[in-house]
Amino acid sequence: MAARGVRLLTLLPLRVQRRQVQRPLRRLLSCPGTVTADLRREEQSSGSAETGSEDRTPKKRFSEVQNERREQAQRTVLIHCPNKINEKKFLKFLSQHGPINNHFFYESFGLHAVVEFCQKESVTSLQNITRTPSLGPEAAIPFKSRYFNLKLRNSLNQTSELSSIQCSNQSSPSSKKLYQLLCCAESVDDQLNTLLREFQLTDENTRLRYLTCSLIEDVAAAYFPGCAVRPFGSSVNSFGKLGCDLDMFLDLDEIGKFTAQKTSGNFLMEFQVKNVPSERVATQKILSVIGECLDQFGPGCAGVQRILNARCPLVRFSHQASGFQCDLTTNNRIALKSSELLYMYGALDSRVRALVFSVRCWARAHSLTSSIPGAWITNFSLTMMVIFFLQRRSPPILPTLDYLKTLADAEDKCIIEGHNCTFVRDLNRIKPSGNTETLELLLKEFFEYFGNFAFNKNSINIRQGREQNKPESSPLHIQNPFETSLNISKNVSQSQLQKFVDLARESAWIFHQEGKDRPSPSSNQPWGLAALLLPSVANNVSLSKKKKKPPSERIKNLLDSIKSSGSENSTATNGRRAISTQA
Ligand code: CTP
Ligand code: MG
Repeated sequence: MAARGVRLLTLLPLRVQRRQVQRPLRRLLSCPGTVTADLRREEQSSGSAETGSEDRTPKKRFSEVQNERREQAQRTVLIHCPNKINEKKFLKFLSQHGPINNHFFYESFGLHAVVEFCQKESVTSLQNITRTPSLGPEAAIPFKSRYFNLKLRNSLNQTSELSSIQCSNQSSPSSKKLYQLLCCAESVDDQLNTLLREFQLTDENTRLRYLTCSLIEDVAAAYFPGCAVRPFGSSVNSFGKLGCDLDMFLDLDEIGKFTAQKTSGNFLMEFQVKNVPSERVATQKILSVIGECLDQFGPGCAGVQRILNARCPLVRFSHQASGFQCDLTTNNRIALKSSELLYMYGALDSRVRALVFSVRCWARAHSLTSSIPGAWITNFSLTMMVIFFLQRRSPPILPTLDYLKTLADAEDKCIIEGHNCTFVRDLNRIKPSGNTETLELLLKEFFEYFGNFAFNKNSINIRQGREQNKPESSPLHIQNPFETSLNISKNVSQSQLQKFVDLARESAWIFHQEGKDRPSPSSNQPWGLAALLLPSVANNVSLSKKKKKPPSERIKNLLDSIKSSGSENSTATNGRRAISTQA
């Protein structure tokens, strides 16, 4: 391993360069004591403020993070800028409306700035001096949003002062760069952590996600004052990769709550409302109108599709200003709760996210997952599989959902639409695991475990943390943790599941072979995670083998080879399960 480190010293400047490029460009005029200052302090001290870390500093609750980020987004504006700009003058101009807490630039259909003021009033002040453009023969819909366009007055006079702006990166690294970084790593564990660092959402990307929700909320609030648009799914559950979609839901539950509480005496006031036949029809009507509104008036929104007959009706659109593909639903509190649960699992042990990111990237590299809906395994299902696997370790790395329920107190009690969604929400009340297995071992055993899982008869169940008989005949059954009668992977076909199993076995085998015969440091061969992950490498490995033998024979031979060496090395594997042919 040390030799590998020496070999790759030549590539090290690349890593240094990476850190420099990604260092955020911001923080010129910050206000001490604000939420942002707090988030930043934690980010600096522990890597990621929101997702936990190795140290035992108190970790924030999901709801705290959501509320802080939401409030921060409400003080923030989005500005489309000329490609070259004088940053100092730009900030000075904006700070006439109040102190700025944070800002950064990024590229999406031109240069954009995200500017967070210290106070909400500054946003109103800026809106008050902003004009609606006159577009010649065309007409503008005078919608006063928080998405602005900055123009240079007398741009000729300013040319000498304009400079190119350093932009914050909003996308994941290219395959080539990832390959270089993985080859630079010193161990497989280091590779998994490198991949996590490169793919996880940055603070800026998270800000942009909350800001996008906040901008959509402004549109929805025109119809439903007091509503909230909340992000859920991988944008907030700590398993999101740069470039993942932005799932958001329109939360109308809060509307009217406070006023109802305030009334006293013998009278109770209710709003006059229109009745519709069912909750589903209400959802469809609401989303239809919001979809129409985003399409007609929503600045930066394009390609709006209203998919109202889906099991969960939604509006899908591209928010070009931020570059996010968005899915807007309503009444999705259970999904928000499952995001909270995943956030907790991700924060409980630093190995969880590293493992999930690697499995997600592995699946993507082998086309097991896709951004197009279909019969494929989803990232959500893969995350559940990793959590389940970590619950099955000895000692377990993650607790079961039932155990988290036993730790809950009265305040944690949560019933949504008749489903018990109760679990402890204070991360600091859950004891860390005593398991010290390495990421390398865990990844290898993940592949072995699922390469041999009895998918034909068993269901994956993170509530109980053990295999259960499948209640129905779908090829892959993963129980929804809260709506327990639902299978989150009902869409997965037998052939897609088989592809997953074959690739898991093959990856276990590659790992196993490498353990015996890792490429020499000077050979420049991909090793460890790189050998499993990069599409070109993966395809090459598969293709070269496919040429030689049909897949079933190939897999059988791989298994035989592992089986025989597994029995040879039974002491080396420390009594853990060796791969077997039962499927
Ligand atoms: N969800 C669910 N049941 C499903 C699919 C999704 O409960 N069958 C919920 C989960 O909370 C999930 C969220 O909807 O996190 C968003 O779904 P999706 O976008 O498919 O998954 P993500 O977790 O966001 O992952 P990705 O990065 O692929 O978008
Ligand atoms: Mg998503």
